[in-house]
Amino acid sequence: MPLFLYLYFVEQHGRIGVFDSGFGGLTILREIMDTMPMYDYIYLGDNARAPYGNKSFDLIYEYTLEGVRYLFDQGCELVILACNTASAKALRTIQQKDLPRIAPTKRVLGVIRPSTEEIGSLSYTGVVGILGTEGTVNSNSYGIELAKLSPKTKVIQQACPLWVPLIEERAYNSAAGKLIIESDLKRLFEQNENIDVIVLACTHYPILKEQIDSFVPAGVRVLTQGPLVSEKLKDYLYKHEEIENRLTRGSSLSCYTTESGDYFNAHASEIFGQPLRAKHIELN
Ligand code: DGL
Repeated sequence: MPLFLYLYFVEQHGRIGVFDSGFGGLTILREIMDTMPMYDYIYLGDNARAPYGNKSFDLIYEYTLEGVRYLFDQGCELVILACNTASAKALRTIQQKDLPRIAPTKRVLGVIRPSTEEIGSLSYTGVVGILGTEGTVNSNSYGIELAKLSPKTKVIQQACPLWVPLIEERAYNSAAGKLIIESDLKRLFEQNENIDVIVLACTHYPILKEQIDSFVPAGVRVLTQGPLVSEKLKDYLYKHEEIENRLTRGSSLSCYTTESGDYFNAHASEIFGQPLRAKHIELN
């Protein structure tokens, strides 16, 4: 193989891909990169087709698989679906049906399992509130996982279908935005007032943490998934040397979006906490 091709191959392989429908996965990427800054990362936000939360199973699966394939083509050995909706609707099929066919040595992981492994032990009342997209709530993925891992925990779920659009449109500080957030939280507590832990089961929602905290009763803990997912990923890499050994250590980050690069850069930098420069790509 010619040297330049060899160098290209080496440089392009061994990265960790982080995929989301839009900006939300940046909240997970931030925590992962803070915990493991040594690896090389690629972020892909399908902003042009967000939100995923109210789309059909087939469409979410199709879009997510396109994202995963793109990240594999960019040299990712491991892809994190930093999106609960994609994790709920597409992860299992991709792991079981697609991976053995398209990339048997690569891995795709989601965010639901690492989150549910911890949640049950954090509630004193035994009642946990889950806030997510319609797709995540209707899939009952949190209910199913928690029934296995913490059968005594009562799971109360509330879909918040307007929260992702509020974030993608950057409208959450408007009076209407605050009203929407407040009324969905009210609906959650109307279902059960003993909730003492709320899980933000959509990776976009930590962007609303300040607004959510202002409407939640004192003593209720609002959990974001980033710290849970990054710690579990660290454990995973420790236990899976065959994957870890293939990861490169250049502390780099490349970002891609299906929206315009300028649009992504203008909003993503604020969410991520440092300037980002994304390249526009098309998924298909
Ligand atoms: N961040 C995605 C999630 O965790 C948002 C889904 C959407 O685009 O509606 O579910």
